[in-house]
Amino acid sequence: MFKRLFLIGSISYLVHTYTEGFTTTRLASQENYGFSDFGARIDAEKILDQPFHYLASGGQSFVFISEDGKYVLKFLKGHARPWTVLPKVRARKIKKIAKTLEGYRLLEEKLPSHSATIYAHFSKTPFRAAHLIDKCGIHHTVDLSSAECILQHHVKPLNSLSTEKVHELASLLAEEKMTDTDPRQHKNWGMLGDTVVIFDAGRIATDPQGKFALSDKYISWEQSLEDS
Ligand SMILES: Nc1ncnc2c1ncn2[C@@H]1O[C@H](COP(=O)(O)OP(=O)(O)O)[C@@H](O)[C@H]1O
Ligand SMILES: [Mg+2]
Repeated sequence: MFKRLFLIGSISYLVHTYTEGFTTTRLASQENYGFSDFGARIDAEKILDQPFHYLASGGQSFVFISEDGKYVLKFLKGHARPWTVLPKVRARKIKKIAKTLEGYRLLEEKLPSHSATIYAHFSKTPFRAAHLIDKCGIHHTVDLSSAECILQHHVKPLNSLSTEKVHELASLLAEEKMTDTDPRQHKNWGMLGDTVVIFDAGRIATDPQGKFALSDKYISWEQSLEDS
């Protein structure tokens, strides 16, 4: 009996580690965060006709890439769950997600040409289903209506050729009185064709002083590109 329980526990742990904690139950939320959808709905409906394969898991998101490799579909981690009953914990989780949604909304409002987002489903209005394939190759049909998600262009990583454009975008953010409070800009910004775009806008916020500067982490990463 004990052996069997140990075996089941070990297998569950290994699967959880391998799938990076992904389960479809983590995608939907019960909260209405009070945001509206934005972007190109008709394009999104068409793009979502194809399956999306598990790509990555970051601090705040589960990310899937489209079969044709051109798009990503992103879901937020950290929603309050039915068993998140402590009001303080629940309120903290809601505040954190709302801040992330606001980052995406703000970037779209102020600098849409530097956003990778095609469509954001942030409301609790009806939306279509998506066909997701997880890391284990298991297929899931997920109703997106109650799952806040972001459909984006799949962008290329920054490289040494992007340097000047990254500095231009940093100045633009400052002009628009915005900042990216995530110091790992090199991991959250990328190239869409010749344009530097922000694909992780979760830490974009207003900065009334307009003093945005690239973080030390970005600068040292940029330096390492030059040195290599
Ligand atoms: N639009 C995109 N194009 C290419 N890769 C992406 C895109 N969005 C996310 N990713 C990949 O998924 C990872 C996590 O996504 P990100 O948006 O940075 O979420 P998090 O808030 O969890 O950091 C990124 O580091 C990157 O590797
Ligand atoms: Mg990120």
